[in-house]
Amino acid sequence: MTKMLNQAPTNNAKLLAWVNSWVEICEPDAVYWCDGSKAEYDRLCNEMVESGLATRLNPEKRPNSLLFRSDPSDVARVEARTFIASEKKEDAGPTNNWIDPKELKTTMLGLYKGCMHGRTMYIIPFSMGPVGSPIAKIGIEITDSAYVVINMHVMTRVGTKVLDVLGNGEFVPCVHSVGKPLAAGESDNGIWPCAPLDQKYIAHFPETREIWSYGSGYGGNALLGKKCLALRIASVQARDEGWLAEHMLILKLTNPQGESKYVTGAFPSACGKTNLAMLIPTLPGWKVETIGDDISWMKFDEAGQLRAINPEAGFFGVAPGTSMKSNPNAMLSCAKDTIFTNVALTDDGDVWWEGIGTPAPAHLIDWKGNDWTPDMVDADGKPVKAAHPNARFTACASNCPAIAPEWEDPAGVPISAFLFGGRRPTTLPLVYQAKDWEHGVFIGSTVGSEVTAAALDVKAGTVRRDPFAMLPFCGYHMGDYFKHWLEIGKKGEAKGNLPKIFCVNWFRKSAEGKFMWPGFGDNSRVLAWVFARCAGTGSAKETEIGFLPTVDAIDINGLEGEVSAADLEELLKVDVAGWKNELAMIKEHYAKFGDRLPQELVKQLEALEARLA
Ligand code: OXD
Ligand code: MN
Repeated sequence: MTKMLNQAPTNNAKLLAWVNSWVEICEPDAVYWCDGSKAEYDRLCNEMVESGLATRLNPEKRPNSLLFRSDPSDVARVEARTFIASEKKEDAGPTNNWIDPKELKTTMLGLYKGCMHGRTMYIIPFSMGPVGSPIAKIGIEITDSAYVVINMHVMTRVGTKVLDVLGNGEFVPCVHSVGKPLAAGESDNGIWPCAPLDQKYIAHFPETREIWSYGSGYGGNALLGKKCLALRIASVQARDEGWLAEHMLILKLTNPQGESKYVTGAFPSACGKTNLAMLIPTLPGWKVETIGDDISWMKFDEAGQLRAINPEAGFFGVAPGTSMKSNPNAMLSCAKDTIFTNVALTDDGDVWWEGIGTPAPAHLIDWKGNDWTPDMVDADGKPVKAAHPNARFTACASNCPAIAPEWEDPAGVPISAFLFGGRRPTTLPLVYQAKDWEHGVFIGSTVGSEVTAAALDVKAGTVRRDPFAMLPFCGYHMGDYFKHWLEIGKKGEAKGNLPKIFCVNWFRKSAEGKFMWPGFGDNSRVLAWVFARCAGTGSAKETEIGFLPTVDAIDINGLEGEVSAADLEELLKVDVAGWKNELAMIKEHYAKFGDRLPQELVKQLEALEARLA
């Protein structure tokens, strides 16, 4: 018999029936409706510490913070096990995995049957976006993971207040199980529960707006508000309703005169989006404040201005590489009240990771729970990492010193510019501006990046095309998604106030393999040019690829010794040979989309080729 730990705090008949149907399928020991309170958060944290799943960090070093170690097989999003189960295969498109929804549901129902034996089923009502905002959406996640509950507390707005706003309205139903039922008397024994890879399914049913996730407890596979709802399902809703759900940071940029502009940016995973969103400018008098670091939902207001909200309430940031040099605001955001996953533990109860900016201590407990010393090497002679490269911190946005006061404005912030970028060691200049919206969509559709570690199943070191940084996150055919962006342009143009579009590349390398641009806070020098272009100033020359800054348009005062005049020239010129090679790669990339590739983009490619000839 399933025990009801509290009363359902809703009369929404559809919601109650849906929960009951899943209780029958999953057969949990108990059912608990989350209220989103601090007491609930603290209680679940204590339970997980007691059961050995979590370690409480030294409160003098890291107040109110926990460390989790996941199973080594469950450390990142699993793209090969992520499915867009649209009714027709062609509607998922060439960039998504597809299974017939009926077949997938049959398979998954088989796995879900009895999957919560020995566990509590938590019902999490959550809002993506400020509760009650006209741009916000409500989801309900069912999960058997208390780790998911506490992460959702930080990453979304959880609780009874959401049910009050929901009333009898519509919600996105999200089902999640770690896929590890317990036999009578069995416990996890402090070991992260999950299912083997071939039983993991991260499934989306775009027509019915449902999300079913099974077998993984990690990040985007399990915190279903983030990638699953706010990107994959929301992108479908946005297409149907005429708005944009994008994998973009949102930042507020203020010049020395006190004028502000808001900029969003799409970068593939692990390209420093969080760092850019929280950047501390090296240019005197400039200020960057954060609205969001990962996702942007944008709608036109009545005056035709595109306005953005951050649907999330926290940061699920990559820890390795984050330091007081690379991102002081992220370091301060996770100084307390933080959930760490797969970082290393110091002997005095604090955390450590590669690139944290302090030397490795003489002894650590690594992310697998083993003793670690700096001299350890693996079978190939490479240093053993103390933290997993995709180790994360979950920290609330309100803890970020750079958070903009208006970050929760339900009306959103007005967007002046979009940035697209990736890790491109060659060819792509430091920055250039699209000729117009259609050309900007062409640029977005061709974004590419060297691959690193945010996804489990892609090979590191190769360049993969990641249009609009949405490759793993677009819930429908990517060709139709390009068309949607072109249509948004037409809609915005008619109203006369479209954001300008830019491409940036902080990762250009010299022939010797050295980064040519210092990046981090110095990226403010590029943002200042973007600001100027949006203000109608900022000098540029029109080239084959778009508008490039004139060499004197980027302020490099204070960069003496870091960027030579020759390097800057190289960073701001059209590498014709490189672009010819790029054209060939774009053609190959575009060929995947067949007749769903909009003709406008074919024409853009032809025009670029003609200009470079
Ligand atoms: C993320 C990602 O975790 O993009 O944000 O992979
Ligand atoms: Mn992301």
